[in-house]
Amino acid sequence: MQNCNLHNLPENYQMKYYLYHGLSWPHISFVAKNEKGRVVGYVLAKIDEENSSDSPHGHITSLSVFRSYRRLGLAKRLMIQAERAMVEVYGVDHVSLHVRKSNKAAFSLYKNSLEFTVDHEEAKYYADGEDAYAMKKDLGSLY
Ligand code: ACO
Repeated sequence: MQNCNLHNLPENYQMKYYLYHGLSWPHISFVAKNEKGRVVGYVLAKIDEENSSDSPHGHITSLSVFRSYRRLGLAKRLMIQAERAMVEVYGVDHVSLHVRKSNKAAFSLYKNSLEFTVDHEEAKYYADGEDAYAMKKDLGSLY
């Protein structure tokens, strides 16, 4: 998962951050593997209980798919698996995420394919100063 992240995104994490997700919320992160068992995509997810302005909810920390495996539906499938697990295991009613305003592919995936909506914009959210869309999806239809 970390290898896939390092190849595909500028937001990278120490191994202990992956372990933190795996140990705290083991049911809601998923990988896609190729026929050789190599991880070619992942969704890293958590339950956000600390944000006092919002109820406990799912949060997508990171999602990526290796370039040669894109447009095969892997990211969509990983996201749908994570959403279902968040509902079944933790009973949350919505899921949130951040995405760079310039990231047309991911924005299209979230908005058009997965039916997330833009909740608000966060100025200079990323370390390089780029703004983020904070997006949200109601999971009520999964109950
Ligand atoms: N342009 C426009 N729409 C797109 C694109 C694109 N390049 N890629 C996906 N979509 C939309 C389409 O609607 C697509 O359906 P279609 O193929 O039937 O038209 C739908 O999303 C589903 O696409 P998938 O095949 O499931 O997406 P994929 O497996 O290719 O992964 C991803 C998409 C994760 C954004 C990939 O391009 C990637 O890894 N990019 C680099 C890393 C990244 O940006 N990750 C997201 C950061 S935000 C976060 O982590 C919370």
